[in-house]
Amino acid sequence: MEGAALTRRGLLVGIGAVGGAGAMYAAMGALGLAPAEQDKEFVAPRPGDFALRGKGAAKVVILGAGVAGLTAAYELGKAGYDCTLLEARSKAGGRNLTLRGGDRLTELKGPAQDVKFGEGLYFNAGPGRIAPWMVTLDYCRELGIPIETFINNNAAAYVHTNGRTVRARTARADMYGSVAELLAKATDIGALDKVITKADQERLLDFLRRFGDLGPKLDYVDSDRRGFVKFPALDTGTPIPPPGTLHQILAAGTGRSITNDFGYDQASPMFQPVGGMDAIVAKLTEAVGQDRIRTGTKVTKITSMADGVEVVWNGGSLKADYCIAALPPHVLARIPHNLGAQITSALATPVPVAAGKIGLEYSRRWWELEDRIYGGVTETDLDITHIWYPSHGYHSERGLVVGYYNSEREAELYGALTPEDRRSRALTQGKKIHGEKYRQNVLSSVSIAWERQEHIQGGWVRWPDFDSSFTLLQRPAGRVYFAGDWLTHLIAWQAGAMESARAAVTQLHQRVLQSP
Ligand code: ALA
Repeated sequence: MEGAALTRRGLLVGIGAVGGAGAMYAAMGALGLAPAEQDKEFVAPRPGDFALRGKGAAKVVILGAGVAGLTAAYELGKAGYDCTLLEARSKAGGRNLTLRGGDRLTELKGPAQDVKFGEGLYFNAGPGRIAPWMVTLDYCRELGIPIETFINNNAAAYVHTNGRTVRARTARADMYGSVAELLAKATDIGALDKVITKADQERLLDFLRRFGDLGPKLDYVDSDRRGFVKFPALDTGTPIPPPGTLHQILAAGTGRSITNDFGYDQASPMFQPVGGMDAIVAKLTEAVGQDRIRTGTKVTKITSMADGVEVVWNGGSLKADYCIAALPPHVLARIPHNLGAQITSALATPVPVAAGKIGLEYSRRWWELEDRIYGGVTETDLDITHIWYPSHGYHSERGLVVGYYNSEREAELYGALTPEDRRSRALTQGKKIHGEKYRQNVLSSVSIAWERQEHIQGGWVRWPDFDSSFTLLQRPAGRVYFAGDWLTHLIAWQAGAMESARAAVTQLHQRVLQSP
């Protein structure tokens, strides 16, 4: 048995060395040794993969030059595939959009906005943060994109709920303290006797004392974790007024706000490319070749045939061996095709979700100077939902605050307003947290409503159920493959777009290698 395995391994190593990863996988499949799909490490196609079969790379037309389309072209390009990207918008990137002074943002059913930010300022209107486990960082490394920390959790930022504003550190100390006190007291009076042993109760109490900063009688009375009006230095500082009653703490409703970064996708540290998220677009474009991307090209028909795919657009058409459709599903659903009624209905299943953001340029960084907030997010129960402070450019003169970042109903509400009204509403809301200074020193602003962005029409999508439509579209329909964050469980993340592109590339490449 062992001898046989060794022989097979020896054979595979040999095939891999000569034929590259693609040939090795094909051989592994034939030997029944290929790992389950989801366990496979992505292996980029290589020119050497064709060596054993003596065939060349195919011609691929990619619909959409967003992150999914660009990633697919980039990976296929490594093996010499002849890729053409058709992009309906005036530039590549899709939702990976960074706005700077001199840019113009147009919108369906609304006036255009001229971006007037000063030199060096930027606004990530789409994705803004990357978790360390995401493939996005691998692309940053591979493409030589410098990254820096994105501060997603800042104890000095605020929590604004039920009309009250407190520092995040205060809200956390109070909730952790209260919960710890209640559980510790319940344990102490024997409420858990039937649930855990005495020894475990001791361990639990030991933890709860630390977790809640409880006193000797298991009370949460006060804690310097809550912060200070004046922090300790030569003296012990000036504490902030003590916490309210347990009822007041619970009624403050800070729960969602203080747990926002508990998620595996939001936990610190997070990262951002230095100088703007669109560095990813710029580097992918450079690697793919700008000349392969045809902007302003709105696809009007997709026909999959026995020997290729024909794509027609406003003013031209193209025939390729394969197609990767990397458009939002609701946009794709409107393009006539011959892929069948099941595909049409599957594409129409995910529901587009509205999402919006406003970038507010200030002439002075009052959040650093006065609030001592260096990066991070203020969580609110207002319709602005979040305020983001910049995680870069500290101590410089100007700065850009994201004055709202919302989705669904709140985003629709802001999206329906004029840019001036969005700004004035955002400033009125932000003033509830930061006071009058929030409305002063604003130099310029720009707001985006993703559901009103032409050829995108949504911040992301929501699948009512990750059902058979989802899995159907993860497979090709004829010679057409689909790609996008919407085909993964990483919706609204560039990593989803990249993982999906890799999956489409892998399937397409296997097919090319295995085709007669
Ligand atoms: N990925 C999006 C975010 O981090 C939803 O806010």
